Amino acid sequence: MSEKNAEEKIKNILVFGATGTIGAAILKYLSMSYPSAQITGVSRRPQDATADLSNVTLHICDYGSDTALAQLSKIYEQHHAHVDELLITTGVLTAILDKPEKSVQQIDQEELLENLRINAVIPALIFKHFFRLLASAHAPRFGALSARIGSISDNRLGGWYAYRMAKSALNMFIKTASLELKRKNKQSVVVGLHPGTVKTKFSERFIKHTTKNCFTPEVAASQLIDVFQALTPAQSGGCFAWDGTEILP
Ligand SMILES: NC(=O)c1ccc[n+]([C@@H]2O[C@H](COP(=O)([O-])OP(=O)(O)OC[C@H]3O[C@@H](n4cnc5c(N)ncnc54)[C@H](OP(=O)(O)O)[C@@H]3O)[C@@H](O)[C@H]2O)c1
Repeated sequence: MSEKNAEEKIKNILVFGATGTIGAAILKYLSMSYPSAQITGVSRRPQDATADLSNVTLHICDYGSDTALAQLSKIYEQHHAHVDELLITTGVLTAILDKPEKSVQQIDQEELLENLRINAVIPALIFKHFFRLLASAHAPRFGALSARIGSISDNRLGGWYAYRMAKSALNMFIKTASLELKRKNKQSVVVGLHPGTVKTKFSERFIKHTTKNCFTPEVAASQLIDVFQALTPAQSGGCFAWDGTEILP
């Protein structure tokens, strides 16, 4: 497909987590790659990370709330007939603890619940409120930033209980959601995306000098979007890494 055709195909793009490190880089990459697309960024924070991006509109929304998401989808619907691409770039390594658990004795009930809420419940709520707008697109795409650590078969080191459990739950949500959206729209793609290790506030304390594949947010964003847009309906429900390889559950 020529660049122009690819650009025309993508009309309405919605990105949650507009002011996160990877989220802001994704918005910038999308804005540059698809200048004619209508791009909407959503953040909880009233700071305009998108001020210099002419084709991006920013909405402030507490997307952890069902009510706020219902309002946001109504507002969105007044301006857009459908969503072609929806990306969730939000998530945390730890919600309450200073660092992830190394042993079972460090397990904290509040951390488990809040980590699950942020990493898995919020993407599910967003999908619920934008399901109809996704289903009515020609070939809708939904992607949420997951992590290799959510793979059960890949777990060789243990530790990081809350984050592992939450990303596994997110991956199960993605598989289940892919089946429901497929019933409404055979062209749909619903996937988890693993960015690799990205230099952010989130990760810098855990990056060792031996860490392979450690990317800047800009490189991570371009890799993720290129992988996301190349995935086919037959691959819907899976989790894919920055290089396009599938991460098995
Ligand atoms: N960095 C890495 O190496 C790495 C590796 C694998 C996977 N990931 C995944 O990539 C995603 C983004 O990570 P990042 O490195 O860009 O992190 P980041 O810069 O810390 O951004 C975190 C994002 O999550 C949102 N968030 C934080 N706390 C929240 C809360 N309590 N409720 C709702 N939303 C909350 C923030 O939203 P606001 O902007 O609204 O505050 C922000 O958009 C995460 O899902 C993470 O698991 C990252």
